[in-house]
Amino acid sequence: MDVLADEIVRFLRATGPDHDPIQTEMAEYAIAEGFPIIGPNAGAVLRLLARLTDAERIFEFGSGYGYSAYWFLQGMNPNGHIVLTEFDEDELAMGREFLDRADLADRASFEAGDAMETIERYDGPFDVVLIDHQKHRYADAFERVRTDVRVGGVVVADNMMEGPIDFDRLLAHFENDEPLPAAESDRETAGIGQYVDTVRADPAFETFLLPVGSGISISTRME
Ligand SMILES: C[S@@+](CC[C@H](N)C(=O)[O-])C[C@H]1O[C@@H](n2cnc3c(N)ncnc32)[C@H](O)[C@@H]1O
Repeated sequence: MDVLADEIVRFLRATGPDHDPIQTEMAEYAIAEGFPIIGPNAGAVLRLLARLTDAERIFEFGSGYGYSAYWFLQGMNPNGHIVLTEFDEDELAMGREFLDRADLADRASFEAGDAMETIERYDGPFDVVLIDHQKHRYADAFERVRTDVRVGGVVVADNMMEGPIDFDRLLAHFENDEPLPAAESDRETAGIGQYVDTVRADPAFETFLLPVGSGISISTRME
């Protein structure tokens, strides 16, 4: 869950925000079930981005049981609203329960089904969008929302450096321009590579990748 050296992760944990009791439960569930939440360091970055943009509208592609949404809700405008999307209805129900216990659920919509379809029912502008669903659909999700993100808003994507991906192939692609694997042989690595190529080539966005958690990409809309 963390790409940084253990000591740096410990340093960040020692200096960063603590989980509240509900987040602690959520994180313990992730460990017990091996569920890939974004983790506390990347979560704190989500909260920061929501705070800096004074976010009133956030959309998530892939919400699991609400751990990333929980961080967003802590930082966003008190009148703000977040849309959670999830294939798995049990996870989504669990997310509703966690957010409800923290009195956050009334600022959230819980949308079961394919996030790529759900987005069609929501108009922008969004202050922040999180892309954390199927890696091979990241670039499509970005293309779909890029004009719905307000100028000054951000698109965040997870699993840039760790996850079901071949990091060495990605490094060779970005460093030496080597081709990405074919989607038929490794669609996750191809998807992440294609996503980063897409956002970096977009003149309306400025992108930087942060090595927190599994590695997150942050793209700010400039124009
Ligand atoms: C990495 S987890 C999300 C974790 C969550 N963002 C967090 O950090 O707490 C990815 C989730 O996306 C869901 N998912 C994958 N593709 C999806 C899609 N097209 N639409 C909705 N949910 C999807 C999966 O079921 C899984 O629960």
